[in-house]
Amino acid sequence: MDIRKEYLEFFRSKGHEVISSMPLVPDDPTLMFTNAGMVQFKDIFTGAIPTPQNPRATSCQLCVRAGGKHNDLENVGYTARHHTLFEMLGNFSFGDYFKKDAIAYAWEFVTVNLAFPTDKLWVTVHNDDDEAFEIWSKHIDPSRIMRFGDKDNFWSMGDTGACGPCSEIFYDQGEEHFNSSEDYMGGDGDRFLEIWNLVFMQYERTADGKLNPLPKPSIDTGMGLERVIAIKEGVFNNFDSSNFKPIIEKIEELANKKATSENIGSYRVIADHLRATSFMLSQGILFGNEGRPYVLRRILRRAVRHGYLIGFRKPFMAQLLDTLIKIMGGHYTELVENKNFIKEQLTLEEDRFFKTIDLGMSLFNEELANTKEIFSGEIAFKLYDTYGFPLDLTEDMLRDRNLKVDLAKFDELMNAQKAMAKAAWKGSGDASNDGDFKQLIEKYGINEFVGYENITYKSKIVALLDEHFKEVKTLEKGTTGWVMLDKTPFYATSGGQMGDIGALEDNKHVAIIEETSKFHGLNLSKVKVENSTLTQGESVDAVVVNRYEIAKHHSATHLLQSALKMVLGESVSQAGSLNDANRLRFDFTYPKAMTTEQIEEVEDLVNSMIARGISGNIEELPIDEAKNKGAIAMFGEKYGDVVRVVSFSDVSVEFCGGTHVRNTADIGSFYIVKESGVSAGVRRIEAVCGASAIKYTKDIISKMNEIQAEVKNSDVISGIKKLKEQIKDLKKEVEVAQSQTSTPINEELIGDTKVVVAVVENGDLKKIVDDMKNANEKLAILLLQAKDDKVLIVAGSKNTNIKAGDWIKNIAPIVGGGGGGRPDFAQAGGKDVTKVEEAKIAALNYAKENL
Ligand code: SER
Repeated sequence: MDIRKEYLEFFRSKGHEVISSMPLVPDDPTLMFTNAGMVQFKDIFTGAIPTPQNPRATSCQLCVRAGGKHNDLENVGYTARHHTLFEMLGNFSFGDYFKKDAIAYAWEFVTVNLAFPTDKLWVTVHNDDDEAFEIWSKHIDPSRIMRFGDKDNFWSMGDTGACGPCSEIFYDQGEEHFNSSEDYMGGDGDRFLEIWNLVFMQYERTADGKLNPLPKPSIDTGMGLERVIAIKEGVFNNFDSSNFKPIIEKIEELANKKATSENIGSYRVIADHLRATSFMLSQGILFGNEGRPYVLRRILRRAVRHGYLIGFRKPFMAQLLDTLIKIMGGHYTELVENKNFIKEQLTLEEDRFFKTIDLGMSLFNEELANTKEIFSGEIAFKLYDTYGFPLDLTEDMLRDRNLKVDLAKFDELMNAQKAMAKAAWKGSGDASNDGDFKQLIEKYGINEFVGYENITYKSKIVALLDEHFKEVKTLEKGTTGWVMLDKTPFYATSGGQMGDIGALEDNKHVAIIEETSKFHGLNLSKVKVENSTLTQGESVDAVVVNRYEIAKHHSATHLLQSALKMVLGESVSQAGSLNDANRLRFDFTYPKAMTTEQIEEVEDLVNSMIARGISGNIEELPIDEAKNKGAIAMFGEKYGDVVRVVSFSDVSVEFCGGTHVRNTADIGSFYIVKESGVSAGVRRIEAVCGASAIKYTKDIISKMNEIQAEVKNSDVISGIKKLKEQIKDLKKEVEVAQSQTSTPINEELIGDTKVVVAVVENGDLKKIVDDMKNANEKLAILLLQAKDDKVLIVAGSKNTNIKAGDWIKNIAPIVGGGGGGRPDFAQAGGKDVTKVEEAKIAALNYAKENL
């Protein structure tokens, strides 16, 4: 049975709209990850956005519980039922049906569709929820309904947001299989398995902890797909089900080791973490040191550490991906689409960690030997800071030994480090309090962006905020603050496109718009009041400046992405981008630096796309249709069921909320200014187009003119070549001059033999000896040269009794050296430059004595 399909079809037949899974990264700074099926509907529950036409929805949502309020990371591998990433089936009512129908639907699905025997089922309700108790009594024997308090039966998404009492369905897996002291209803054991949580959404919790009633009571339910599959397959551990088993078998194959009851936990951790890391990467979360990227890193490192325990010493996760794709890739095509990218990123990160894991492990073991109860907070911090061991990894390693980390010390060191990092960020202008924006939204609603169609607009000032985001009635001349317009033509920074700048004008004043950003969905512009006073309620002409140039860069980025895929391959994917009026920056995944030829090819391709004058087309499409068109989704972006698709014929088709040119020809021309590396596996291209491209080329031309003037040649290349030749010639001349000006060499005749013994300051001794040998019939020559701290001695002999090798052996010790050679030629080195003259005299004497 395909339970996912069965569930969605069941609720479709009950009038629910099937909605696709939203991304793992929610558009909500208070939430680390999408941690429940209800996250994409949270604003509908609170009434912040209107109820859809159909107030019933159902979905199968990918969830991550590895950070933030719901965090199961530490449990994974140690229980039969916890995962960092899992699939949650859910049905939702937005002010439509409530407890009675929610319970009836759940009961029907569990007992009829899943055909779970009723004598295996238990339910729980909140202590105070008599109504739910009553309703359940009509379906199940009241002795099987248990009441619990807030801890078990009150559900909240996060610290703020929609919440309410809940009722859970449990499946009893049998006493014969589970008999720990925790295996009772409400205990922590695995026997009574919670399979479905029905939340009766009644309140919204605000930042100050208050519970305000929701406009309309609603339903949010969540059923763990992995658990239900395991029950249906008759196994008692999710990891033994068809969802995980093939991955575990693959790990056994790669490790060449079957799992044992002692180490099976490690195999399970790896299987679980493979799913979480692969999906997170496929949705554009990259490894990093803060926030979500850091959670991703922690999960991967935990997997690697467990891999290390079972014997892996080099990256292995990528080799498991194909098995995961076989299990989940049919439904989640993003895994298939991003397969190469995921493999590449996993391997790079694993490689990094494997490089330090040995060092970290030995530091850990050293400290462990000294630990009785509490493991040093300093060492835990060092492991974190220097060796990349996340704290929970260290805690994990200590858990088997019942040891704990000195958290107070660890936190102290961590906070000190954070404070330092923060100091470096001071003045970033972040709003101090999310609550301020929520209040604004409550008061005035969300303002509308009208800038796709307009670059000037007659807008009304709905609200004014001072620099600290506190609401004010007026902004005085000379001050800076933020303005909220009812309808605004200013684009707020998002999707890599810089927010608009411009002005607010009317006949009495001008205020400069310096930037535009989004705060909790509110579009606010930073404003500097130049003259007069801005007052709430006033009407102004809002004028966008420079938008066209931004649009050119944004469209060029789309063309660039296509060209990169053509030249470097389809696995290239966007890792970040920035488009403003003067330049574009595009980060993408690629393992090595591009060659000059590749850069040129990409640049040429983009310019040919521009030259073809391809019309742009922007449409809003249902997400599936957009995907079928082959639209490239931008990493880490949230997409609703309807998406905006920007295309330039079939050259480039992308999901995008930005502003674009109407025709590629508008871009003018495109130049890549720089290609560089950002981090392992990620490259960056900086480029210019439009007016900036003109400026860029003009700058180059004017530099060229200067160079022409400097080299006095209109053909600068031959001018420079000539200069280089001249330099070469001059160098030669200098060399000759130097050898000619070297110390005069004294010669004397002993019999008919010419004897030359001299200290030569400059020149090539060997060459001088050779030259002199060529020029003389009978010659004994020994030259010394002191350079820096070394003495060089070269000796030659031609048709004489003197053997050059013996001569030099005799002399070299005087300058603290040694050496030797043939009878006709020898050389040696020495260290004592002060003894050069002494050596010269000795050499001359030797010649006189031995000739
Ligand atoms: N939001 C609830 C949960 O996550 C039910 O979907 O358990």
